[in-house]
Amino acid sequence: MSDLLERRAALLGPNVPTFYREPVHIVRGDGVWLHDAEGRRYLDCYNNVPHVGHCHPKVVEAIARQSALLNTHTRYLHAGILDYLERLTATFGHGLSQAIMVCTGSEANDIALRMAQAATGRTGLIATDNTYHGNTAAVSALNTRRPPIGGWPPHVRRVPAPDGLVPGGCDGAAFGVNVARAIRELEEAGFGCAALILCPIFANEGLPDVAPGFLDQAAAAVRKAGGLIISDEVQPGFGRLGRQWWGHDWLGFAPDVATMGKPMGNGYPVAGVVARPDVMAAFREAFGYFNTFGGNPVACAAAMAVLDVIEEEGLMDHAARVSDRMAGHLAALSHPLIAGVRARGLFFAVELARDGMPAPEAAEAVVETMKARGILIGRIGRAQHILKLRPPMPFGTAEADFAAEALADSLQEVAV
Ligand SMILES: Cc1ncc(COP(=O)(O)O)c(C=O)c1O
Repeated sequence: MSDLLERRAALLGPNVPTFYREPVHIVRGDGVWLHDAEGRRYLDCYNNVPHVGHCHPKVVEAIARQSALLNTHTRYLHAGILDYLERLTATFGHGLSQAIMVCTGSEANDIALRMAQAATGRTGLIATDNTYHGNTAAVSALNTRRPPIGGWPPHVRRVPAPDGLVPGGCDGAAFGVNVARAIRELEEAGFGCAALILCPIFANEGLPDVAPGFLDQAAAAVRKAGGLIISDEVQPGFGRLGRQWWGHDWLGFAPDVATMGKPMGNGYPVAGVVARPDVMAAFREAFGYFNTFGGNPVACAAAMAVLDVIEEEGLMDHAARVSDRMAGHLAALSHPLIAGVRARGLFFAVELARDGMPAPEAAEAVVETMKARGILIGRIGRAQHILKLRPPMPFGTAEADFAAEALADSLQEVAV
């Protein structure tokens, strides 16, 4: 272990993050389980990338089969990308019927921003002030943890993210007022409003307790200004919410562009942007985009297998059922530091606060204790004070019971 840490530092440079005080060395995965180099197994309540389960045989087989046949770029004709995009776009409403395939969520959001700018002829962008949408130069200018070199660009405005610890912090009308103010500022500065980009469940913000309809006032303000709404579906997409394929269908708004990534290829790097034809045309004419690896035949085979498994194994209904059970367990948790519990399909949050202030040290202690009990979870939120459980979709009722019991026990060990 220390040998690997030393080699990482020597080869990858400083400040490369690992999870946990003592990092885990995972060597194998299957379903909802991860196995470390010492043969210890962990229940994976963290990873959404292995969406249909670690190393799902159907996805492995699809990748292997297509790899043995052909893998090249999209400048040759290939039915794989067309078959896949017909299936994918059929899951969308709101006229979102055309797509670009890329390799990462960051690239997808980079394209989405440029689509909005091409379609509107304006450059102003609005995001929440506690977000992460990726790591290209354009997209990282929206992120909040570390400012870009030279400071935040003036065409980006950040509005307060919904926040359960702030009185009225999950109120859609207040969010709408802040978005309208950001639009005014962008217009006065001569940028105009190209787009509002958001994750419809505000996952990185901490899965706050917003309700369907939350975005109504903000969306109306963006529409009035002629801007677009980009739904970043990297976290809620592909049926994680159980009853909806996409987060915007849960929150109840019509995006002009939707982006997706992480779960799309079950670990194979594939991501995408889905848009209305008029928005796509504006982008294609402005940029003539090409991506060497995006949408290659192996990527499409992996992504197609993911859709097959979601449907064949009924994973959305399963997610809805297990979510309800886990939500019941979370609601029954009792600890003085619990400021709120949330369930959005197979995405769960437990917010920890002391006297109304985030309690990140308590959250860190619970994450470590859970790991010691063989369960991997993570943290989100402005102060990393919110426990995040976001398991692969096959996570079942037995695992929910096991994780919830361990969580209750772990919380009891945390100092009040
Ligand atoms: C909401 C959201 N959007 C985009 C991204 C970036 O995706 P990728 O790491 O595939 O570039 C992330 C990554 O964590 C994310 O959480």
